[in-house]
Amino acid sequence: MRRLIVANYKMNGDKKLFAKIIKEVNKVKVRDTKIVLCPPFVYLDEFNLKNKNVELGCQDITNQENSKSTGQISPKMLLEFGVKYVIIGHSERRKIGETDEQINQKINICLNNKLKPIICVGEEKKSDKLDIVLEQINYALKNIDNNIIPIIAYEPVWAIGTGKLPAVNRINKMTRMIKAHLEKLGYTDSSILYGGSVGIDNYKMISDADIDGFLLGGVSLRIKEFIEIVKGIDNE
Ligand code: PGA
Repeated sequence: MRRLIVANYKMNGDKKLFAKIIKEVNKVKVRDTKIVLCPPFVYLDEFNLKNKNVELGCQDITNQENSKSTGQISPKMLLEFGVKYVIIGHSERRKIGETDEQINQKINICLNNKLKPIICVGEEKKSDKLDIVLEQINYALKNIDNNIIPIIAYEPVWAIGTGKLPAVNRINKMTRMIKAHLEKLGYTDSSILYGGSVGIDNYKMISDADIDGFLLGGVSLRIKEFIEIVKGIDNE
């Protein structure tokens, strides 16, 4: 199956850095990997992507159908800039108050507008029960048509930006649990990504896990390392 590598730039970067990143990513040759770049909204217009293996994404979308929504970004606006994917429910957004209901609304809005949601789930603490993750999925996919192929990014919150990684066994246990759960909900196919402290020194080990790709944070800003990871994964 084709691997998916998603770069989440979070609230980082500037025009100069993104120009450099775009130049390098436009040149990268891959056989069986799709790359999705998710800049902050204000930089979307800078992302002149000329590589058929690279798509544009973003980090959020409105949950409102109503245009009277100060500060929100509509699907129509995102489509105008060529966005194809939207990260939804990232733990850093849940932390500032995004609810399961809003996440479900955002997923609906994406699907109604042919945008692909990348749905982030993950337990807060290493000691948390993994069932929490399945509950997040239940909320996220409530009343969502099961003829879609959900993209789920499993990101243990305790691993994000900390340099701490779950053991491959734990990632496998979780991704298998997620796949089985999605099948039970009627989704026969799905794509499961792993995110949280993936870097140049550990990506090979994690790519042995039962996953379809990665959601990369910090390392996606270091273009040389990012390209090395992309190529390494593509060559597997
Ligand atoms: P990290 O972030 O790779 O910097 O840990 C991943 C994420 O938050 O999506």
